[in-house]
Amino acid sequence: MAWVISFAMHNDETFPTRGILSRALGGVASSLRAQLFAWVVLTLIGAICINLYLSYRSADATADLVTDRTLLASARVIAEATHVDGSGTVQIDIPPAALEMFDTGYGDRVFYQVVTAWGNLIAGFPDLPRPKRDLNGEDMTFRTDGVRVLMLSHPVVGLDQDSTISVTVAVTHNSQYAMRRRLWLSDFTKQLALVLLAGLVTIIGLQRGLAPVLRLRDAVRERGRERLDPLQPDMVQNELRPLVHALNDHMERVQNQMAAQRRFVSNAAHQLRTPLALISTQASVAARETDSSRRDEALTALRSSTRQVTRLASQLLTLSRAEPGSRRPRNDTIELTETARRVLETLAEEALRRNIDLGLEADETPVRIEGDGTMLREMLVNLVDNALRYTPPGGRVTVGIGREDDTALLWVEDNGPGIPEAERAQVFERFYRIMGTEPEGSGLGLAIVREVVDGAGGSVTLGEPAGGGLLVSVRLPAV
Ligand SMILES: Nc1ncnc2c1ncn2[C@@H]1O[C@H](COP(=O)(O)OP(=O)(O)O)[C@@H](O)[C@H]1O
Ligand SMILES: [Mg+2]
Repeated sequence: MAWVISFAMHNDETFPTRGILSRALGGVASSLRAQLFAWVVLTLIGAICINLYLSYRSADATADLVTDRTLLASARVIAEATHVDGSGTVQIDIPPAALEMFDTGYGDRVFYQVVTAWGNLIAGFPDLPRPKRDLNGEDMTFRTDGVRVLMLSHPVVGLDQDSTISVTVAVTHNSQYAMRRRLWLSDFTKQLALVLLAGLVTIIGLQRGLAPVLRLRDAVRERGRERLDPLQPDMVQNELRPLVHALNDHMERVQNQMAAQRRFVSNAAHQLRTPLALISTQASVAARETDSSRRDEALTALRSSTRQVTRLASQLLTLSRAEPGSRRPRNDTIELTETARRVLETLAEEALRRNIDLGLEADETPVRIEGDGTMLREMLVNLVDNALRYTPPGGRVTVGIGREDDTALLWVEDNGPGIPEAERAQVFERFYRIMGTEPEGSGLGLAIVREVVDGAGGSVTLGEPAGGGLLVSVRLPAV
């Protein structure tokens, strides 16, 4: 089974001082597989350490117990070998078996001591240490040796009724420690095998559990640029299905956006082709014309068509700039009254030419908003341009600025034909123009307006003022 930890490390040339360890840790943190693997390994190491300690403790206890049993048996044999002779003295003949039972091949040395209840040494080493309690093995030091010591009190036949002797037997640790080591090792290896087996099974489980995720990754990665059909949610486990659904939703949005983009490009090309064809014809007519006044006429028409194409191209450019993400977001503070005044100044000549009364309604208090100044100006130009363009001569166009709590208000009102209610939503669409509208125009003006207002976090609505016409109201967050 190929278990590869992919330490997805970045070749970070900018941080040559970052240590290998921190890079490895960074790699683990960013790789799911390495992370899960690290958890399993850490758990296993923890389990092995605990196991090491516990099995040592149990081996130690067992070895103590076995040694104590032998010491007790030996003490018993020695005690049984005591008797009282005719003169009333305690005699002892220690049988060799009492000490030979410690001869287990580890070169242990055995010491003993037999004393009467009143402290007279009968046999053995006088300075052998005695444990505090009877029948209780204890680790002590005798001269320079570490020993296991056990004491047994035993009544002696022939002595006074409740007279006893104390038999103390001590043995060096060699055999005890060897037993402890052996017990520990066998216990530990068994448990280690179990833990490793458990770890292996866990890792195989992880591998299998992660396989669908990797399949999903490959499925996404292998797709071509244009393949955006939904992924099958049942290729992964229940918990991951929301992710697949989210991916599918995202792909659907991208698909719709791509379709809209395609539509837009084809519309734009179409819109450009018509006037360009016209320009070509007008140019040929002008070139062929020998009569100078007729040629001037053709050239005037040519200039007008050229203006129209230029305007269309610049509207396309403005629209693409107004789209979210196409420009770095700007946070200019714009004073609306001043901006409106300047826009009206540039359009005053046009208003005069069309005999339209163009006015501004605003009081002295400044109304400030935050956003992209160029785009907001573009929006206002488009609104006033529409009002001037569609209002018949002799009409009136008023731009108003105001403020309502946290909202900046901007409205453009005219007394032209207005827009029928049924078409008020559609006029914001790209290239949408109302039937019968004068031929000049691209259908992009209101689309630009909506894009700019959306980008600035505001809203735009169309309405009809009291005397008829169109009232465009824009609400933007004020600062
Ligand atoms: N102030 C207005 N009065 C009447 N109709 C308007 C007004 N503004 C816009 N419209 C209508 O909405 C349509 C879309 O406007 P717009 O997006 O600016 O495109 P364009 O002006 O290039 O046609 C216009 O074709 C026009 O019919
Ligand atoms: Mg317009």
